[in-house]
Amino acid sequence: MGYTVRCHDPSRAISDDAVREGTVVLIDNVRHLGAQIPTAVRRVGESVLLLGAREAAEPPVPSPPPLRLSKFHAPEIVFGPRSVQEAAHAAIRIGARRPLVITDPGLLEAGWPSELLTHLSATGLVPQMWFDITPNPKDHEIEAGFARYVEGGCDVVLGIGGGSVMDAAKGIALLAANGGGILDYEGIDRIEHPIPPMIMLPSTSGTGADVSQFCIVTDTERHTKITIMGRALVPDVSVIDPRLLTTMPDDLNAATGLDALTHGIEAFVSLAHGPLTDHHALQAISLVHANLVRTMMRPRDAAARSAMAQAALEAGLAFTNAILGATHAMSHQAGGLLDLPHGVVNGVLLPHVIRFNGATVPERFVPIAQAMGLADLAGAPAEESVERVADEVRRLADEVGVPKGLADLGVTESDIPRLAQLTLGDACLTTNPRPVSLTDVTALFRAAL
Ligand SMILES: NC(=O)c1ccc[n+]([C@@H]2O[C@H](COP(=O)([O-])OP(=O)(O)OC[C@H]3O[C@@H](n4cnc5c(N)ncnc54)[C@H](O)[C@@H]3O)[C@@H](O)[C@H]2O)c1
Ligand SMILES: [Fe+2]
Repeated sequence: MGYTVRCHDPSRAISDDAVREGTVVLIDNVRHLGAQIPTAVRRVGESVLLLGAREAAEPPVPSPPPLRLSKFHAPEIVFGPRSVQEAAHAAIRIGARRPLVITDPGLLEAGWPSELLTHLSATGLVPQMWFDITPNPKDHEIEAGFARYVEGGCDVVLGIGGGSVMDAAKGIALLAANGGGILDYEGIDRIEHPIPPMIMLPSTSGTGADVSQFCIVTDTERHTKITIMGRALVPDVSVIDPRLLTTMPDDLNAATGLDALTHGIEAFVSLAHGPLTDHHALQAISLVHANLVRTMMRPRDAAARSAMAQAALEAGLAFTNAILGATHAMSHQAGGLLDLPHGVVNGVLLPHVIRFNGATVPERFVPIAQAMGLADLAGAPAEESVERVADEVRRLADEVGVPKGLADLGVTESDIPRLAQLTLGDACLTTNPRPVSLTDVTALFRAAL
């Protein structure tokens, strides 16, 4: 008949007697059975579990951890509604007297920094303030913030805001101990002296900068974004209060949610992934997939906001340890050239990079498809998961209002050679699972235009 049928006693052939209420029947190749399913099985209907060939096989044994050294960086994490006040206790604990609170005008308007300042002052600290920062923080803004740190006689840095504020805070702390210009530190582990303690309070559910070892800065002369990387940049404490997310405008919520999704997917397929990062990456993918749209429909839904805060955190833990890939390497160039929202550029690029990487590591996209709930792929070739994941990311991007192509964001055909060349120098490209040549990255930018 081309298929085998087994019940709880695998030596017995299936019969009406063998199939009774509650029996688990494993049928190999069930997809091809159609009307040939034995009548006894059909009769018990819902109470019989039919499993296809893949599921009927032995339960999967988790693969052993790789036999190579791996490190997992993470700050102390305080998570939950009303945790803002915990930042003041943490500041005392790590020795602050005159902390510098770094934020931006959008956050000031939302009111969160003043809540933080109240708590800091109530614990006897003398907080100073710096808020002259724009999205995609610029080299000169960070250098001006450093001057404010020195002038204020500050000792600890607190960043309250999105990725731009947190990266600026990291840059200020870095300069406080090491001097020079911020662009001097581009690359990996170029920070020599220990930097002042840092506490971060993220106000967007996306970047993971509150737990990451990255600091992304706009080089205003070269019109690109540089990446500074190193263990020294992992903040000491991350205080995550999901209430802060409730004042995000919709477009920021969409962009940062797609950024977190990109972190999860790029970390999971990265050359530097491992069992510890895989777990967080898949959890982040699943949480974004299930909750981003919910936060758009119901902005005050506390459970959905908390799930997105957790998604951003777990994606951050995954990517700071597994690093990223071609989407981020390309996104930094387009974002730096045109001062574009980081998560929106990622949302446009990601489906193209998924298809590109899927040609080399299709099997890595099977668990990603499962995390997204694309369950009907059981037994299908891994390449199908690649396609479905790419389509699903695009569908989600459409649903939250992200444009179809880079051209809608102002990128032109004539920008591509320069963007492609700069991408090859980005630190994030080193862990992309498929080698990327100039021809490849040019083709990817063209496809995403
Ligand atoms: N360091 C890292 O690990 C890392 C990772 C990913 C991205 N990034 C960087 O993060 C930056 C993007 O950060 P982002 O997407 O979080 O946004 P953002 O920090 O650039 O903020 C964008 C705007 O939204 C406003 N805003 C932020 N939170 C708000 C809130 N809760 N309520 C009202 N307004 C709010 C800000 O005032 C700002 O005007 C980019 O520069 C990107 O390169 C860094
Ligand atoms: Fe990102």
